[in-house]
Amino acid sequence: MAVALRKISPWRFVRAVQVTHIPTLKLHMTGSMMGATVEQFNHAKSQMGTLKEDPGNEAKLKIYALFKQATQGPCNTPKPGMLDFVGKAKWDAWKSLGSVSQFPVCIKNGPPPKRHPANLTQLWKALESTWEDARQQYVDLIDSLLAAEGPAVAAQPTGSAATFDTLLVSTEDNITTIRLNRPQKKNAITVEMYNEVIKALEQAGKDDSVITVITGSGDFYCSGNDLTNFTKIPEGGIEQMAKDAGELLREFVKAFIDFPKPLVAVVNGPAVGVSVTLLGLFEIVYATERATFHTPFSQLGQSPEGCSSYTFPKIMGNAKASEMLLFNKKLSAVQACAQGLVTEVFPDSSFQTEVATRLKAYAKLPRNSLALSKQLIRGTEKERLHTVNDQEVERLVERWLSDECMQAIMSFFQAKAKL
Ligand code: COA
Repeated sequence: MAVALRKISPWRFVRAVQVTHIPTLKLHMTGSMMGATVEQFNHAKSQMGTLKEDPGNEAKLKIYALFKQATQGPCNTPKPGMLDFVGKAKWDAWKSLGSVSQFPVCIKNGPPPKRHPANLTQLWKALESTWEDARQQYVDLIDSLLAAEGPAVAAQPTGSAATFDTLLVSTEDNITTIRLNRPQKKNAITVEMYNEVIKALEQAGKDDSVITVITGSGDFYCSGNDLTNFTKIPEGGIEQMAKDAGELLREFVKAFIDFPKPLVAVVNGPAVGVSVTLLGLFEIVYATERATFHTPFSQLGQSPEGCSSYTFPKIMGNAKASEMLLFNKKLSAVQACAQGLVTEVFPDSSFQTEVATRLKAYAKLPRNSLALSKQLIRGTEKERLHTVNDQEVERLVERWLSDECMQAIMSFFQAKAKL
C-alpha cells in the first residue's frame, strides 16, 4: 500500500479534501458540547492548506477518513476492487473508523421517519455524535500537524534565560526543557511562574523540538502552589483572589491537557501538590530515587487539581488514589513507580546522565509520528479532562475561601508547619 501511495502526488488526498463540500452537515448540527463545531471543522480544513510539509501517507489517510466520517458518517460505499490500491487504502481507512452496520438502515439514509420517533431519534443522535467525534478528531489532527511544524512566522525565541524570570527554558537536541527556577523556595509556583509555564508550553508546542521536558532546579522538583499566593489580597477582596487564582489554575492545567507533543517530567527531587497531580497528564515520568510524591490537600483544607481526581484512580485504582488524594500519603519514588504514576526510577548519582541519554534517543524519533500517536492516545478523553479541570477548579475556589484552608495556610506561615 505504501508503494502505491508514493506513486501519487503527496498532496492528492489533501487537495481532494479541500474541494469537497459538506452540504448535509449543517442540517444536523446540534451545537453539542462534545465535539468540534462546524466552524472549527471548516477552519481546520482551511488551515490544512497552510501545512508546509507533506504529513505523510499515514496522516493523509487518517485525514481523509476523518473527513469522510465527519461529513458522511460511517463508510457506506462498496469496497474498491483489488487493483485499485489507493481507493482501497482510503476505503480501509474510512471503514476502520466505524462500520455502517452498527447503524440501522433507516438512519443511514436520512433523518428519522415519524414511526418509532423515540427510538429512532436516539439512534439518529448516535450518528450525530459520530460526526461530532470525527470532526473533533479531525480538528485535533490538523492542529497537531500544524503545531509539529512550528510557527508559521519567524520562530520566537524559545526562552533564553532572559525571556522568563522564574524559569530556564532552552532547546537542544530536539528537546525543549522548561526548568522551574526558584530553588531557594523549592520551586514553589508563584502567580508569575504559573503564567510563565503557560507561555513556555505554548512556545514549546510550536517550536521545532520533538519532546518537552519539565524539571526543577536545585534539590526539589517543586513544592507546589506558593502559599504566599494566598497572602496577596487584591482590591476585590478574598473572593476576587480565589476567583483569579481559580482562573489561572484552569488555564495552567489546560495548557498541559492541550499540549500537542510528548511531555516528560524529570522529577529531580521531592514533588508536592499540583506538581504531582499534573503527572497524570505527562507521557513519561522519570524520577530520581530521592523523589517523593505528596498531595497534602486535606491537610491544607483543599481538594485535588491537575485532573488527578480522574487520572489517579485511573492510573492506580481508587484505593491507592484515595490514600494519596484524601489521606495525604506521601509515596517514595519506588512506590510511585509501583502504582504506575512514575515510568522509571534511577539512582540519584546517575539520574541526570541516564535520563539525558534516554531522552536524546527518543528525540531522534519522527516528530509527527510521536505527536500523532500522543493525540490518538489522549484524544478520546481530552473533552473529559477539560470537564474534570473545570469541576476541580470550581471546588477549589470554594475551598480557598473556607476556614479550614485559611487556618492551614496561617499555620504554615506562623508556626512554619511543614508537611
Ligand atoms: N509556598 C511558599 N513558600 C514555600 C513553599 C510553598 N509551597 N515551599 C517552600 N517554601 C519556602 C519556605 O517557606 C522557605 O522559605 P524561607 O527560606 O524564606 O524560610 C524556603 O521555601 C525553603 O523551604 P524550607 O521549608 O526551609 O525547606 P525544607 O526542605 O525544610 O521543607 C517543604 C520543604 C516543601 C517540605 C516545606 O517548605 C513545606 O512544607 N512547604 C509547603 C508545601 C505546601 O504546602 N505546598 C502546597 C501544597 S498544595
